[in-house]
Amino acid sequence: MSDHADPTAPEGPAKTPRSMTQTVVLAFLVPLTLLLLVAGYFGAQPRMDAAGDAFEEQAIALRLQPVGRVALADAAPAGGGEPRSGEQVYQAVCSACHAAGTLGAPKFGDKAAWAPRIALGYDTLLNSALKGKNAMPAQGGGVTSDEEIGRAVVYLANAGGGKFAEPPSAAAAN
Ligand code: HEC
Repeated sequence: MSDHADPTAPEGPAKTPRSMTQTVVLAFLVPLTLLLLVAGYFGAQPRMDAAGDAFEEQAIALRLQPVGRVALADAAPAGGGEPRSGEQVYQAVCSACHAAGTLGAPKFGDKAAWAPRIALGYDTLLNSALKGKNAMPAQGGGVTSDEEIGRAVVYLANAGGGKFAEPPSAAAAN
């Protein structure tokens, strides 16, 4: 029985499945390899790097932006109507630095920081606020009316222990 070999298929039956297997394996491996290569080339990793660079640039821009930027954007004039109160001007403009002591500004309500300033007198403080002093820009960076600046100086200085009277309103003086 063992001698009985089918002459029509001595190698064929053995060879054909092997080449079939090879064909099937290659049919999977070749496209898979190509896919992996393509995925590696266009894949997520390079794009994440690009996005990371973009975020990094944005982060650097944020760190580099001027401290007073938000305040300057808010510093639009009152619109020709009633002058704002000292507190309103402070909130809109001066708080950008004076709330946290940014750039070395004397902090809101910090009596020790304000005492030597208050001792200079209202006129000197008003002059500093109007014209700027060292890191403080003129008018704190954008208020247009001297009267509003005066009110803000009084509000700020009095919160730090000053006893300045509200400056006379320009409207009342007319
Ligand atoms: C961009 C930051 C910034 C803004 C905005 C700002 N200040 Fe100042 N301010 C400072 C700094 C810094 C100082 C300390 C200056 C110094 O003595 O070197 C200061 C000091 C002052 C002083 C004391 C001046 C003196 O002669 O000692 C007054 C008063 C004052 N600010 C009022 C204001 C008022 C009112 C506003 C809003 C209209 C304002 N500041 C907005 C930064 C700012």
